[in-house]
Amino acid sequence: MMKTLKEQVVDNQLPRHIAIIMDGNGRWAKKKGNIRIFGHKNGVTAVRDTTEAAAEIGIEYLTLYAFSTENWNRPRTEVDALMSLLIQTINKEVPTLQKNNIKLVTIGDLSSLPVDVQKKLQEAKDQTKNNSRTTLTLALSYSSRWEIGKAVKDIAHKVKEGTLDVDSISEETISQYLETSNIPDPELLIRTSGEQRLSNFLLYQLAYSELYFTPKFWPDFRKNDFYEAILAYQGRERRFGKISEQLTKNI
Ligand code: FPP
Repeated sequence: MMKTLKEQVVDNQLPRHIAIIMDGNGRWAKKKGNIRIFGHKNGVTAVRDTTEAAAEIGIEYLTLYAFSTENWNRPRTEVDALMSLLIQTINKEVPTLQKNNIKLVTIGDLSSLPVDVQKKLQEAKDQTKNNSRTTLTLALSYSSRWEIGKAVKDIAHKVKEGTLDVDSISEETISQYLETSNIPDPELLIRTSGEQRLSNFLLYQLAYSELYFTPKFWPDFRKNDFYEAILAYQGRERRFGKISEQLTKNI
């Protein structure tokens, strides 16, 4: 019997961390002759499906780009609708997170979010903090350049107060000052909707990641699409600058 995509995926080595740029909600809605927020609402189904799939197969970290720093420039009505959708979704989904042993964390400049959203997120994070199967990270009001700028400032302060020695600063130190300090770098980045850019997402952390692009719009993304992306990743050879023979023959 032919193995299902899921069976094929779990037969191979799984990535520990998968990051996703969820793109194409607006175009999906437009194609259906509907308003953009309709696309975001249906995007939540894809978030649920993907998170569940990740937990089922035992992906340790899943990071979703939910709202970028640049997204604040969208029309006010869309930003407001996204914020209320976020609250609604958290209200509805926290029991599912509990059931699936998923911990919710966030990265980004949360202080710029509306206070009720901040509160809701904090509640959800507190409620799920002891869960351990999968860590679901939502990037909210996040951009990589903002994060790196903040890390540089924090490092500079430490040096100025004399608690950090300039000569001890390594790549690892920089990682520790990023928002993702407790999370390993993603082995795989997925972007939906056919766009092929990083859009200011995890620029430092994605240095060695495999990139996977699918033309599907985010609201259509389902478990099997997630498994296909992982299978594509598993079929690639990660060399980290080495030559192929070094990997197979250990030279
Ligand atoms: C990108 O599509 C999507 C977003 C900017 C928002 C993503 C939000 C959700 C999926 C819903 C809420 C999320 C959570 C985690 C509860 P786009 O609007 O850029 O689409 P377009 O490129 O076609 O215009």
